This record gives sequence, structure tokens and C-alpha cells, in this order.
Amino acid sequence: MESLVARSGALKRQIRSRRPSGALSGSAVGLLFEKPSTRTRTSFEVATLRLGGAPVYLAANELQLSRGEPVKDTARILGGYLDVIVGRVFSQDTLVQLAAYSGRPVINALSDSEHPTQAISDLLTIKEAKGKLRGTTLAYVGDGNNVCNSLLLAGALAGMNVLAASPEGYEPESSLVRKARSLAKKTGGSIEVVRDPKDAVAGADAVYTDVWVSMGEEKEQAERHRAFKGYQVNSALMKSAPKGAVVMHCLPAHRGLEITDEVLEGKQSVAWQQGENKLYGAAASLEFVVR
Ligand code: CP
Ligand code: NVA
Repeated sequence: MESLVARSGALKRQIRSRRPSGALSGSAVGLLFEKPSTRTRTSFEVATLRLGGAPVYLAANELQLSRGEPVKDTARILGGYLDVIVGRVFSQDTLVQLAAYSGRPVINALSDSEHPTQAISDLLTIKEAKGKLRGTTLAYVGDGNNVCNSLLLAGALAGMNVLAASPEGYEPESSLVRKARSLAKKTGGSIEVVRDPKDAVAGADAVYTDVWVSMGEEKEQAERHRAFKGYQVNSALMKSAPKGAVVMHCLPAHRGLEITDEVLEGKQSVAWQQGENKLYGAAASLEFVVR
């Protein structure tokens, strides 16, 4: 994780100064997306171009997948054309099948369970803000969802202290928390799940939130809005955090729900830098799987 974050930083300097990289020279990178995306799709397409490869966007609803062709058949065919597959899917099992049957490296560009490339870019943002990762404290406030899960795992790998504050019934899955804890034990990090957002942010270097209703959960909107009241990242909550804490959001943001406009647009927010960093996390992930 530390070397992926370091590579993301090095590629940031390289890509910004338009110095070419041939890491993906001659490679075709397929982006198979079952869900919408602004940042992840564009950043992976542009990262592929900057590394000398060619992106091929595959909207799942335009493939024969949408007419019932099995994932394993699709994967075997795509594996014959593509060098890398980047998948944004509902079920994690779809990624497992893509990897098993394509014979190609598969990068998770978000599933219902995890969003690992988001976490790589987020750690780059924290490192830029705080100068290091090891020993820094990240407080996640809100839904124990895919983004939260990946931050717990990535933070544990990088020796960080990660706290998650979620309402009852929306905590990160206990098996994932156990996995993150056992990783943290080896790196000197720590993982804590708490109820009160104020407890989570009290010693935070970074306060992070994500949407209350993730893609695919639209039917639960009313009950989720009720459950997450009190989990808004606003200026009152930020008074409980250290003054130097930065505010993060993977975006898209819903102002007035999980975060206020004032905080998202405020001095402590690094959300826009975080958004740009997705390009470099994508580049480092692509480089990592083809090397
Ligand atoms: N943060 C993120 O994954 O955004 P997109 O859904 O726009 O890709
Ligand atoms: N948890 C959100 C993240 C969006 C980038 C979702 O899955 O919709």
C-alpha cells in the first residue's frame, strides 16, 4: 500500500509535467461498468492514455451481458482481446469471475463491497496533507459501505489509525473489521468502530464522509435519511476535531445531507485535490498490475 501510494505521487509529478510513460504501451484496457461514474471512469481512461495504452469503455447495459450472457462467457471472450479489465460492478463475485475466466488482471473500480482504488488515491491525499501515513488518524463518519471498507483495509495496511462512526445497523461488516484489525496489528495501526461521530473525529487528522445512499440502494432512501441524521459532517462536528484536520469526500457529494456546503467548500476541505488524485491512483494501479 505504501509503495502504491508513493508511485501515485511519483506518477502525479510525471503526468502533470506531461513526461511520457510507456508502462501500458500497446495495451488495451477494458472498462466494464455496470454503474455510473464520473471520476473513476474518466481517471482510468485518461491514466491509460497517459501510460501509453488504449482504453475501451464497455457499458454493461450495451453488452450481451444485459441479455443474459453469463459473466464467465463474457470474461473468456474479453480476455482474448484485452490486457487489463477494470470493473465497476454490483456483486464482488462478478469481479472474481472476470478474473478467473479472463486470465487477465482485474482492477476493482468499485463493487458493493469495496472501492480499493479510491482508497489508494485518498491515502495519497492524506500523505500530501500530513506528510506521512503511518500513525495518522482517519475518522470516517457515516455508512459502513464499500468506501469505508476499503479505507479500513488500506489504512490498516499503511499503519494508520482508522475510526468509523456509523449508526446502528450500518456499521462496516464485522468480518471485514476483523481482517482490517489483523492487518493493523502487523503494521502498528489500529481499527476502531464507534457510535458517536464526535468520538471518531476527536483526534482526527482527516475527517471523511460518503453518501448515505449508495448506487443500488435508492429504494432505501427514506429510511437511510432517517438513520443517518446526526451523522452529517458540518461545522458543529468539525469543532470536535483538531483544528488542522482536513475534510475528505470521495464524491459525488450531497450538500445538506452527509456534508454541508460550508464544510465541503471550506478551508479544511481537500475534496477537489482528492478528486484529482484519483487519476494518479488509477495510473499506479494500472502500472502495478502490468509490471
Ligand atoms: N469517487 C468516485 O468513485 O466517483 P465516481 O462514481 O464518479 O467514479
Ligand atoms: N458508496 C458510494 C460511492 C460512490 C463513489 C456508492 O457506492 O455509490
